Amino acid sequence: MAPRSICYIAALLLSISATTTATPLENDFVLTEVALDTNAFPVPTNCKAWILRMGGVPAQNIEFWSPPKADDAVEITEYGRNCTSVHDPIDTDWSGPHEIVVPKIDISAFFCEPLKPNPDPNARRIVQLLVHGATHNKWAWHGLSRYQQYNWAYILAKEGYYTLAIDLFGHGNSSFIPGTKYTAKPQFPDPITDIQQPVHVEIIHNLVHMLRSKTRVKGFGFDKVVYVGHGLGAQIGIHFQRKYPEDCDAIVVTGYHDTGLRPAFEKWNFTPSALTGQDEYKDRPLGYLKGTNSSGRESIMFAHNYDPRLPQLDFELQDTLTIGEACWPGIMTPVPNWKKKVLWVAGEYDDQVCPYSGNKKAYQYCKKRLEDRCKRLFPHGECSVWLVQNSGHAWMLHREVTKAQQKGIKTVAKVDWPGFNL
Ligand SMILES: *[C@@H]1O[C@H](CO)[C@@H](O)[C@H](O)[C@H]1NC(C)=O
Ligand SMILES: *[C@@H]1O[C@H](CO)[C@@H](O)[C@H](O)[C@H]1NC(C)=O
Ligand SMILES: *[C@@H]1O[C@H](CO)[C@@H](O)[C@H](O)[C@H]1NC(C)=O
Repeated sequence: MAPRSICYIAALLLSISATTTATPLENDFVLTEVALDTNAFPVPTNCKAWILRMGGVPAQNIEFWSPPKADDAVEITEYGRNCTSVHDPIDTDWSGPHEIVVPKIDISAFFCEPLKPNPDPNARRIVQLLVHGATHNKWAWHGLSRYQQYNWAYILAKEGYYTLAIDLFGHGNSSFIPGTKYTAKPQFPDPITDIQQPVHVEIIHNLVHMLRSKTRVKGFGFDKVVYVGHGLGAQIGIHFQRKYPEDCDAIVVTGYHDTGLRPAFEKWNFTPSALTGQDEYKDRPLGYLKGTNSSGRESIMFAHNYDPRLPQLDFELQDTLTIGEACWPGIMTPVPNWKKKVLWVAGEYDDQVCPYSGNKKAYQYCKKRLEDRCKRLFPHGECSVWLVQNSGHAWMLHREVTKAQQKGIKTVAKVDWPGFNL
């Protein structure tokens, strides 16, 4: 695949940043509280399952140059393999903008209230918006919906924050476009043209709008929103801050470094989820991929000090990655005027982020690398870095989290988690 001309890319970037968003209609937003399957998850009393319905969200995705045929599993798999193997993120198969308007959709989320009041009386309403990474869903922040001791949202609640962990559109229980009077059955959004990073940015922009509104989200009207994104969620977060720099008060970027370093395709061994034999995925379009290599996945997600029960569960509960997300070009240009807090987090042994980790020198090297990255992408941001000790890529599922639960984040991380004193 030959790189398209830089002029063309510049023109496309310009057209992306020039997109205007229609102000969403108030009536299109509805929040519903729903019951959760309590056998699967001992629901903490401070938490509730929410469905955030929104409608008519415009977004500017991209058109791929020569997309795979939607019904050809072999071609889709190969296309996914090709674009998860490129090392230069510009060298991607794309040709122009693809405008979409997301119809009425339901974003599934898990909302938790703080377990202690925030010590700062002027900033009581701080919500941490937790956005999962590729092949995960909101349960990544909640101990995979089983283990309280690896539940990062629980720690944040203990430290005085509200949390809202969402399933990105097309993932977890945000997968359907609900049936309408024209289409009785729920539809799956197109995994190639619909589910791409720009659509996530627009949906999250609307979510933040909802969270700040006094009338919509159960009267909360949050004063402060901290965006916390892991991997794909971090990539979305950086683009989101660039496009809507007013929306959030701080950002936490975790498990992310955009050098084009990606785990080898063999480690994931992606295949269309519809062909994995799981009932839940049998009607999915083929462009929703799932990994089929459990030992490979363990080596991507986990390292050093972790509970041996987690990798198997993490493999079984894994979510999908779409062709649109995997192949979206994701060119990272700096977020120019952002003057707020940025916390950059990675597992010390996350070899997607710090491929040379493992000894003391490497630790310093990695820390410096993340600091440099933060300064480059957020030149005016207030950057700090936390390398999570003895942990791999999915650091929020490692034993270090249990330690942070017992001793507090500040003691373990030696940095402030963005939130208070914003
Ligand atoms: C994958 O890449 C190879 C090598 O560039 C190319 O020949 C092939 O057509 C690509 N496959 C798909 C499905 O795009
Ligand atoms: C989706 O809903 C089902 C049924 O309530 C539940 O068991 C499952 O955990 C949910 N998945 C996610 C990612 O929320
Ligand atoms: C699965 O991943 C492991 C570990 O990276 C690798 O050695 C193995 O070859 C992979 N298996 C397949 C079937 O790709």
